[in-house]
Parts: sequence; C-alpha cells; structure tokens
Amino acid sequence: MRKEGSPASTPNSSSMSKLFICFETRPLVATLLALTLVILIWNLPPYYQNLLSTTRPCSAATATTTTATSVNASSLPHYNASSTSQVAEQKYSSTHITDTDPNKRIFRSYGNAAALFVQMGAYRGGPRTFAVVGLASKPIHVFGTPWFKCEWISNNGSSTRAKAYKMLPDWGYGRVYTVVVVNCTFPLNPNVDNSGGKLLLHAYYGQTQRKYEKFTALEEAPGSFNDSIYHPPRQYEYLYCGSSLYGDLNAARIKEWMAYHAWFFGPSSHFVFHDAGGVTPEVRAALDPWVRAGRATVQDIKGQAEFDGYYYNQFLVVNDCLHRYRHAANWTFYFDVDEYIYLPDGNSLESVLHEFSDYTQFTIEQNPMSSVLCLNDSSQDYSREWGFEKLLFRESRTGIRRDRKYAIQAKNAYATGVHMSENVIGKTLHKTETKIRYYHYHNSITVHEELCRELLPLSAKNNVTWYNKLPYVYDDNMKKLVDTIKEFERKTMGNVQLSS
Ligand SMILES: *[C@@H]1O[C@H](CO)[C@@H](O)[C@H](O)[C@H]1NC(C)=O
Ligand SMILES: *[C@@H]1O[C@H](CO)[C@@H](O)[C@H](O)[C@H]1NC(C)=O
Ligand SMILES: *[C@@H]1O[C@H](CO)[C@@H](O)[C@H](O)[C@H]1NC(C)=O
Ligand SMILES: *[C@@H]1O[C@H](CO)[C@@H](O)[C@H](O)[C@H]1NC(C)=O
Ligand SMILES: *[C@@H]1O[C@H](CO)[C@@H](O)[C@H](O)[C@H]1NC(C)=O
Ligand SMILES: *[C@@H]1O[C@H](CO)[C@@H](O)[C@H](O)[C@H]1NC(C)=O
Ligand SMILES: *[C@@H]1O[C@H](CO)[C@@H](O)[C@H](O)[C@H]1NC(C)=O
Ligand SMILES: *[C@@H]1O[C@H](CO)[C@@H](O)[C@H](O)[C@H]1NC(C)=O
Repeated sequence: MRKEGSPASTPNSSSMSKLFICFETRPLVATLLALTLVILIWNLPPYYQNLLSTTRPCSAATATTTTATSVNASSLPHYNASSTSQVAEQKYSSTHITDTDPNKRIFRSYGNAAALFVQMGAYRGGPRTFAVVGLASKPIHVFGTPWFKCEWISNNGSSTRAKAYKMLPDWGYGRVYTVVVVNCTFPLNPNVDNSGGKLLLHAYYGQTQRKYEKFTALEEAPGSFNDSIYHPPRQYEYLYCGSSLYGDLNAARIKEWMAYHAWFFGPSSHFVFHDAGGVTPEVRAALDPWVRAGRATVQDIKGQAEFDGYYYNQFLVVNDCLHRYRHAANWTFYFDVDEYIYLPDGNSLESVLHEFSDYTQFTIEQNPMSSVLCLNDSSQDYSREWGFEKLLFRESRTGIRRDRKYAIQAKNAYATGVHMSENVIGKTLHKTETKIRYYHYHNSITVHEELCRELLPLSAKNNVTWYNKLPYVYDDNMKKLVDTIKEFERKTMGNVQLSS
C-alpha cells in the first residue's frame, strides 16, 4: 500500500509546515532549522541531555522568541472574533506573546490528534479523472469545512488545476478517522502528450486558503498513459473486493470459500483480499495456490491499525479496491468470506447479469444460516465435511430487514460502501431475490472446533425447528453443490493441503 504523502504524519513536520503557511518568509528557514535542532535535543534521553549544555531549555525559548519577533503583538486582532483566520493567528502567536491585558487568555496547543489526510491510494479513473482515497480526521469534516484542490504538474513543466470534490462514503460510521474519496476531474487529459507528470493534492484545513498541506498523490511515468484501459474489453468479467480480514480465521473455511467462488465466478474473475491481521500462515497457505495461479491477490493492510476507523477501516478498503480496479471488470462484488453467492432455480450468472446490465448496481438478499445446527445423522462424518456441506439449517423468518450485499459496475461508481454505494450514476436494483441470493454462515469462520454443536433429530428435515427463539428449516441447496466444488478444486489446484 502506498503510504507516502501526508506531511502531517509526524507532529514535528506538521507544525513546521503550519508555520510555513503562516509566515512564508525565507529567514524563517534558518530559525526553523535551529528549532528542529532544539527539538531533536529535547527528544534525547536524559542521559544525553546531561552531556549537553544545561542551557537547553533557554535556547528553546530563544528560538521561539526569535520566530515571534516578526509578529507585532499589538497589531494582532484581539481574541473576540470567530473568523477562522483570526483564530488561527491567535493560535500561532499565543505561545510567544505576553499581553498586558490580564483578561486576555492564552491557548497553547501541543501535539497532533489526527492527520488532515492519510492517503491509502490514488488512481487514474479515466482520461480526465482521478480518485484519491484516504482517511481524514472526522471532527474536522463534521464541524469544519476542509476542502481540496487538484493540480497536475507535467514533466514538461506546465501545470493545470482542477476542481476537486470530496465524498465521505462512511458518513456516520467513522471514528477518529472518516473515509474521504477525493475526485479530481480535469477539463482535458492533463497528460495528453504522455510526457508524464504528477498529481498534487492541496488539502485545506478550513475555509481559509492560507492553511493547507500539499503532497504528490500520484505520478505517471512518461509514456505510461494508455487510453484503452478505460474502455471495454475489460480484463475480467467479475472482480471480488473483500473487506478487511481480521481475527482468528479458520483456514479450512477460507479454503472452501475460495474454491466455491473460483468455481462460481469462473475463469474470468479475480479475488482481492485485504489482510488486516486475519491472514495467518494457515490462511495464507489456503490462498497461496490461488495467488500463484493468478486468481487472487492478498494486500497487506496491517498498517491501517494506526488509524482508528470503522471496523479495521473496511470502508477505506472497499473504496481503495473500487478505484484500483475500476476498469478491470464488468461487475465488482462486495461481500464477506462467510457469505456464498447462490443462484436459485438454475439461473446462470451470465444470464442474470445480462438482465441487470441496465443497472449500475444491484443488492443481494441473504439466506441466514445457523453455524451450530446439524442433523443427528450417523451416516455422516462431520469432522471431514466442509462448512457449507453440513450447516443446513436456515433461519426462516420473512419480512424482516436484513443486511444486503451488492455488486456494481465500478466504472459508474465514484465511491462505495459496505452494503451498497450511494455515489453512483445510474439505477440501483433491489428486487433480485428470485435471481441471486447469498448464504450467510455468520459466526462460523473463526470457529476452530467442530461446527456441529447442536444435533437435531432427523425429523427436523421436514419440520420447523425452534432454536434460541428463532425458527429454522432444512436447506441443502449448498450441500448439493459440494461434490462439484470439490472436484473442481481437485482439477484446478491439485489437492490443496492445509498446513495445519
Ligand atoms: C507594534 O504596532 C503598534 C501599532 O500597530 C506600534 O505602535 C508599535 O510601535 C509596534 N511595535 C513594534 C515593536 O514594532
Ligand atoms: C471585537 O472587536 C472589534 C474591534 O476589534 C469590536 O469592534 C467589536 O465590538 C468586538 N466584538 C466583541 C463581541 O467584543
Ligand atoms: C506540456 O504538456 C501538457 C499536457 O500533456 C500539454 O498540454 C502542453 O501543451 C505541454 N506544454 C509544452 C510547452 O510542451
Ligand atoms: C494499452 O493497453 C492495452 C490493453 O490493456 C494493451 O493491449 C496495449 O498493448 C497497451 N498499449 C500500450 C502502448 O502499452
Ligand atoms: C462484459 O462486458 C463486455 C463488453 O461490454 C460484454 O461483451 C460482456 O458480455 C460482459 N460480460 C458480462 C458477464 O456482463
Ligand atoms: C443422536 O442419535 C442417536 C441415535 O441415533 C442417539 O443415541 C443420540 O442420543 C442422539 N444425539 C443427540 C445429541 O440427539
Ligand atoms: C469523478 O466524478 C465525475 C463526475 O463528477 C465522474 O465522471 C468521474 O468518473 C469520477 N471519477 C472517479 C475516478 O471516480
Ligand atoms: C413437527 O414438530 C412438531 C412440534 O414441534 C411435532 O408435534 C410434529 O410431530 C413434528 N412433525 C414431524 C413430521 O416430525
């Protein structure tokens, strides 16, 4: 994952860049160098500090006072206005100025709580358009008005600017950080002569133009722009964008999921997994044959743990995947590794999607499955069976709202969510339950002991069983496919061995 970009990633560099923005004067550089040195010394362990001159705190004070001499305290606005710029100036001068007014209070700030922008990825989304995907301090976006500007610097030296608009696709779900997708659309292809160049993002803290961070979001090498990528035919028919994998996953379940969906989506498909710590060596061993065969990609996103977002930053991950593979496939699917897409009544995936092709996205209804109930059938050796081969009880309440999953024609989407996208052009279809569904084995993938923990009498096959106050009925649609899938896995992969 790209982690370059945000100059605000360390408190020191960020406070320095703020100073630059405040007084863009050259003599300051020397002062700042001195200041940096002082900060460095400050951060040395006490032992080293003792070796150095004991006048250290004084020199720090001197340095700061020098910085402040360029500002005349009495010419500063008094702290009675709410305008952003005045508040900002107040902040930078407060540490240096002793006002004679005893009622004038000083507000000193230390450290940085959340970055203005944390870039995960930046992608060209077409001849004139780019998307930069990242995280940003949520309170800044909830209570402030940060905004963005895009600029292309061509290798031939010319520069073009573009309007940027931001989307917050996890609105309401973020924590310290919220997900931000910045869309930069230029009037023309800024790299039309293919001399290469870079996309700069200017990220503003608030309404004022004066406080901002500027960084290179993306670089294009000379000759690398290729228009044909943005038009059909596409590399794959189907792409799977998985959300963050975390927790103590059972490798056997992942192996079964992968075999099933590689079969289900067919050879023109690709699977992208995001490892937020869930890909243990055993899970890795289950996925590796598919990675080697070019059918799957595993991205290491463990670095996300430093940024407190919603559930292992899953909203960030799905948006990164959307834009990274925006033109790679006709349809991009978003669902989890405890969910299995299923076509009722002998539909074919191709015919169903052909029927849905006028829609930008469609949502998929779930069949919730018990992850504990099995038949008390002595003819079965459950310890050798696959999860979807033995978990055959479906919770049968109807008419209640359940989570849905979805698929999207990514070229028409600008940002996306976990259950559907709200930033698309084109129509959304929800009435799909007779054409396509998914089986959801909730709470089954982190179980390492035997899944069949409650055995039901054989009569439960033809009857409603109440378990924990919920009704369950027998549903062996998935079991009917298991021999086909096992055979498919054996033929394509040989015998995939689990390392445990
Ligand atoms: C600061 O500004 C005030 C009025 O703007 C002026 O009277 C005073 O002489 C200035 N002080 C310095 C040190 O420049
Ligand atoms: C703020 O200060 C300005 C002059 O700087 C003054 O005219 C105004 O009345 C003050 N407002 C308040 C609320 O004190
Ligand atoms: C530089 O490149 C841009 C974009 O590719 C192009 O529009 C412009 O004409 C070029 N300028 C020069 C001086 O070559
Ligand atoms: C552009 O991309 C297409 C499809 O990916 C490829 O066939 C073609 O060779 C590429 N052209 C260049 C000049 O790289
Ligand atoms: C994918 O798109 C291509 C070109 O638009 C089309 O020919 C093909 O039928 C599509 N496949 C599916 C499964 O939608
Ligand atoms: C399962 O069935 C056997 C007989 O077929 C019975 O002895 C056993 O008690 C049953 N187990 C459960 C948990 O119902
Ligand atoms: C950015 O938004 C425009 C519409 O405003 C859209 O046409 C374009 O595809 C979007 N780009 C990306 C990369 O999402
Ligand atoms: C179905 O269950 C009910 C009670 O739950 C029971 O009375 C009935 O005999 C069962 N029917 C069958 C066919 O097992």
